[in-house]
Amino acid sequence: MQPSQKVGKTYHDSTKHSYLSVMLDPNYVDASTQPSPFKFYPKFYRRLKLNVKNPIHSFLWLTSAITFEKYYQDEPYKLRVNPSAGALYPTEVYVQIRGIEGIVDGIYHLEVANNCLTLIYELIDDGLESYILANNRIIGFIFLISCVYYRSSWKYKERSVRYCCLDSGHHLGAIAASTYLHNRNLQLLFDFDKLALNADLGFENKEFITACAISGEFQEKKVRRLRLKVPFVCGTDYFEANQFIEDGYQATATSGSSQKQLEYPQFDFDKERFYQTVWNRRSIRRFQKKSISAKDFWNILQEVQKPIPTENFEDIEIYSVIHRVEGILPGLYQGKRLVKAGNFNDKVGYLCVNQALARDSAVTLFFVSNYSNYQTAMQVAGFLGQRVYLFSNYWDIQCSGIGAFYDDETQEFLETKKDVLYAMVIGK
Ligand SMILES: Cc1cc2nc3c(=O)[nH]c(=O)nc-3n(C[C@H](O)[C@H](O)[C@H](O)COP(=O)(O)O)c2cc1C
Repeated sequence: MQPSQKVGKTYHDSTKHSYLSVMLDPNYVDASTQPSPFKFYPKFYRRLKLNVKNPIHSFLWLTSAITFEKYYQDEPYKLRVNPSAGALYPTEVYVQIRGIEGIVDGIYHLEVANNCLTLIYELIDDGLESYILANNRIIGFIFLISCVYYRSSWKYKERSVRYCCLDSGHHLGAIAASTYLHNRNLQLLFDFDKLALNADLGFENKEFITACAISGEFQEKKVRRLRLKVPFVCGTDYFEANQFIEDGYQATATSGSSQKQLEYPQFDFDKERFYQTVWNRRSIRRFQKKSISAKDFWNILQEVQKPIPTENFEDIEIYSVIHRVEGILPGLYQGKRLVKAGNFNDKVGYLCVNQALARDSAVTLFFVSNYSNYQTAMQVAGFLGQRVYLFSNYWDIQCSGIGAFYDDETQEFLETKKDVLYAMVIGK
């Protein structure tokens, strides 16, 4: 095992759930103490209201939009294009915009609560490129995803070291869906100088950059580092530090990920229907135990595994526990290979911390990996998870992410030595 992998594994291993650990700490919280899920820069910063009829605005809006509002115990909840463990939304988006007509060159915070861009930094000969790519200048958009980790650790404590990264991967997936719908190019980056960016963007210890997504034209030109620091603004109304998460982030932020050649996926979805799918995406709360067709299932699995446009990568293997797919023998599959036959719905419901969703689904998926870089691997798992949501919903199949499972028992059931990073359920 490489030293970098060992570092990530330490954080994975110390956040494992077991039957006993969940019994001892079921994560009950007083909802009235939830930290704010929205970040706002002070009101004197210049803002640009997004207008969905403008294609550039619509492109940015759809990366993070609020798509549904509901009341729970008299509290309003705003759900978004991206799912999030416990609907806590630790992720924020910053976007550098350069050379786009009608928009001042600068770094903007995407203020999700009000559908606007807040200008936090004006560019001269400097920019984010110098932290991310050597000798390149981007005409277009550089997105940064960050995590305001306390929003998640408030409830999930140490295990949110996982959920922050999974949520970040989902948010990257939402950006990918918006670039697809707006016919724009996209490249994801996980290996860059995140720590210097955290310092220069004024995040202190309360927020950290996890990933970058570039959509634009690459020009060969050197760009200076930011000439000024951005002032600190807290992403929550109050904050409690969690040293474990801060250490876990730092330890996994600097080591290299596995590398691969840049490859772009080709999808052939009906754009109008896909747009509606992004807009209406939701997590299922209860399945009716109906079957799905084999054609739909293999289709989803095949589309999900199309290339991810990045050079920094971690390979994720997908196991499927098939409960209810017409014409496919129930059992555990690794790709199309049957590992063991059987009706494992009760077993899998139990493994996912007794969640009925995993018992009543048509298929429960498990993402496993032998990563080099844990932070990257978890984000790639989340990115694939966003594809599972969108591609299932596109074919009228419901879906949910499952972050809670008994780690060791699940690994044993799957008969794998790789770490289990994430689970997902699909069905009707
Ligand atoms: C990383 C992650 C883990 C999740 N884990 C669970 C889970 O264990 N059980 C569950 O019912 N939902 C789970 N969800 C679904 C969230 O509860 C859901 O995304 C959130 O409530 C927002 O609702 P929406 O997806 O309908 O917008 C998870 C979602 C994500 C992204």
